[in-house]
Amino acid sequence: MTSTVSKPPLTDTRPMLDVRGLKKVYGGGRTDPVEAVRDLTFSVAPGELVCIVGPSGAGKTTLLKCIAGLMQPTEGEVVLGAQTVSGPPAGMAVVFQEYGRSLFPWLTVRQNVELPLKEKKLPKARRTELVVKALSAVGLEHVHDSYPWQLSGGMQQRVAIARAVAYEPQVLLMDEPFAAVDAQTRADLEDLVRELWRRLGVTIVFVTHDIDESVYLGQRVIVLSSSPTVVMEDVTVDLPAERDQIGTRSSQRFGELRTRVYSLIQQAKHHHDL
Ligand SMILES: Nc1ncnc2c1ncn2[C@@H]1O[C@H](COP(=O)(O)OP(=O)(O)OP(=O)(O)O)[C@@H](O)[C@H]1O
Ligand SMILES: [Mg+2]
Repeated sequence: MTSTVSKPPLTDTRPMLDVRGLKKVYGGGRTDPVEAVRDLTFSVAPGELVCIVGPSGAGKTTLLKCIAGLMQPTEGEVVLGAQTVSGPPAGMAVVFQEYGRSLFPWLTVRQNVELPLKEKKLPKARRTELVVKALSAVGLEHVHDSYPWQLSGGMQQRVAIARAVAYEPQVLLMDEPFAAVDAQTRADLEDLVRELWRRLGVTIVFVTHDIDESVYLGQRVIVLSSSPTVVMEDVTVDLPAERDQIGTRSSQRFGELRTRVYSLIQQAKHHHDL
């Protein structure tokens, strides 16, 4: 990394999240070791929305688990703010792909959203305020007393998003959160994420294997190679910040960017041994 800066930055340009030389090897012991992630280095600035795409098995979930402090890297480190992540950090929330398993069926929608706020030891009045605000942000204020299993898949995923938003994280990690919902719901949830991101100024790392989704959502798309994983390219998405499902997706620039990411993924699939 070079340190040649011609003039001092006007704003704080320190990254929110810094992934440095991350390597993860599973197993050993009785099984053969699997090198899931070889050497990943990238930074995410405060308030940025970065998408990560890569072929199935590329190590995207492994990467996210290391960032979330749910797993220790074999080599390298993840730095959040100024601190190396060694366990689940306080300012981070994660939305997993499998909403069915991420909500507690014996708790109501409201109780599910409130649970992490109790763990944060917030007073009751503040918890109620945050829960009401988050549920209304995802358009679910009318079902707060329902149980997750009484809701559709898309609604359950919105509850998971509300729970993450209510927590007021500095960094929100999302691992293929919309893979299991229908196309229309998915488009609505994509717009919801962008709207919440623009409103709350939260830093988002969004993992998806959907190329169009990555270009539609992100300010940058980090393309990973297939396992063992390195960063193939960090693509800047120079589309206007105002995005809409029809106009943006049919624009010429969107087409060029999706073609670029698509061809990188094609290369990534054949990129086995470096
Ligand atoms: N607990 C584990 N033990 C051993 N190997 C694992 C484990 N978890 C993942 N792997 C291996 O690590 C590699 C990366 O897996 P990972 O789940 O991170 O990929 P992914 O990019 O998230 O895939 P997908 O797009 O299918 O979700 C794969 O080869 C996988 O088999
Ligand atoms: Mg995965």
